[in-house]
Amino acid sequence: MPTPIQIKLMIQENFSLKPFNTFGIDVHARFFSRFNNVESLRQLLDDLKQMSGLPIDTPLVLGGGSNVLFTGDVNRLVIKNEISGIRLVAEDEDHVYLQAGAGVNWHQFVLYCLENNYAGVENLSLIPGNVGASPMQNIGAYGVEIKDVFHELEAVHLEEQTTVVFSKTDCAFGYRESVFKHKHKSSFVITSVTYKLSKKPHFNTSYGAIEAELQKMQVKDLSIQAIAKAVINIRTSKLPDPQVIGNAGSFFKNPEVPAEKYEALKEQHPSIVGYKLDNGHVKLAAGWLIEQCGWKGYRKGDAGCHVKQALVLVNYGKASGKEIFDLSTAILDSVQDKFGVLLEREVNII
Ligand code: FAD
Ligand code: EPU
Repeated sequence: MPTPIQIKLMIQENFSLKPFNTFGIDVHARFFSRFNNVESLRQLLDDLKQMSGLPIDTPLVLGGGSNVLFTGDVNRLVIKNEISGIRLVAEDEDHVYLQAGAGVNWHQFVLYCLENNYAGVENLSLIPGNVGASPMQNIGAYGVEIKDVFHELEAVHLEEQTTVVFSKTDCAFGYRESVFKHKHKSSFVITSVTYKLSKKPHFNTSYGAIEAELQKMQVKDLSIQAIAKAVINIRTSKLPDPQVIGNAGSFFKNPEVPAEKYEALKEQHPSIVGYKLDNGHVKLAAGWLIEQCGWKGYRKGDAGCHVKQALVLVNYGKASGKEIFDLSTAILDSVQDKFGVLLEREVNII
């Protein structure tokens, strides 16, 4: 017979999170619930306030679980955002404004844009996870970041339950950064995001291997669909599919160093990979640094460093979150020792 809590809130206890994180880490949430609209989220938060004995202060919001590493059981309420729907909320001669529910799968949103010839997100094809998390770390790939197409988002404050609209400025986007990782960390549930897409495409093919891939594909008339296909080809050639090998994409950020530090490193290591930034600093390829330390393809138990992309840590099956975390610490230490560069984890450690 279900407990009164289960009847009222549809909260499940001691719930396995293994299918809900792309690392495939086998941990349990003390409590777990889902919501698919703002009203049911409010109801959930409202009812929780009146309950005693539940760890209600800091529910953990979960999207697709593709940027988290669970290092142990989660002694909190985990709430999974499943708000769906994509709708056109405004348009002018050059743009459309699409509002997507936070629970919409990101790549499904990209496919919707491709089908309708709305340009701007084609370079962001095949990034796992959901719309709601896209502004969290300002997802980026192949020369484009969410900030380039972001219009605004709506979020519900976890304590006050007020709905707040965040503009692009409010979000304070940076490289894999936003206000939701700092000032507003764990304070809001993002419920929808509105993106501004272009009716007339501005192709962005300058990054990495896109041009070469387009040539290989023998593309004559460039289109957003061709760029998406090129990006998908490149990604699938080097990033592990989480359905096959557990992972959360890049485990670390690419570090920025002052130009003088870069020059000094280049003297010692002529093949070092770095990109000059507008602020005069240089962004180093963390994958290169990690590979030079000998980690690429390393495996201890079921925790490893991917054979094709050293920046991606993997779970070959039964690794614990702690084993992956400990491996990340060993990598971080060795990069610090060899190059004097401190890596920062990109994945959210929970
Ligand atoms: P989750 O992992 O569920 O959550 C991530 C964080 O956001 C957590 O702190 C969570 O509490 C919070 N959160 C989630 N949803 C909400 C919400 N609605 N409201 C408030 N907080 C929320 N990222 C890139 O930027 N570029 C890439 O190229 C890229 N490639 C990847 C490739 C692979 C194979 C994988 C596995 C991951 C990759 N990632 C990449 C990382 C990941 O896909 C993104 O960070 C994605 O945005 C995470 O979405 P999610 O829904 O899975 O978030
Ligand atoms: N490299 C190596 N060895 C490796 C991996 C990379 O030497 O094992 C060097 C190569 O010289 C390569 C360069 O690093 O040319 C850059 O590698 P890649 O193009 O694969 O990109 P990245 O810098 O490793 C970043 C993002 C990815 C994003 C790609 C494409 C970060 C932390 N990662 O990876 O994002 O998809 O660029 O834009 O910025 C993610 O955030 O999870 C993610 C996968």
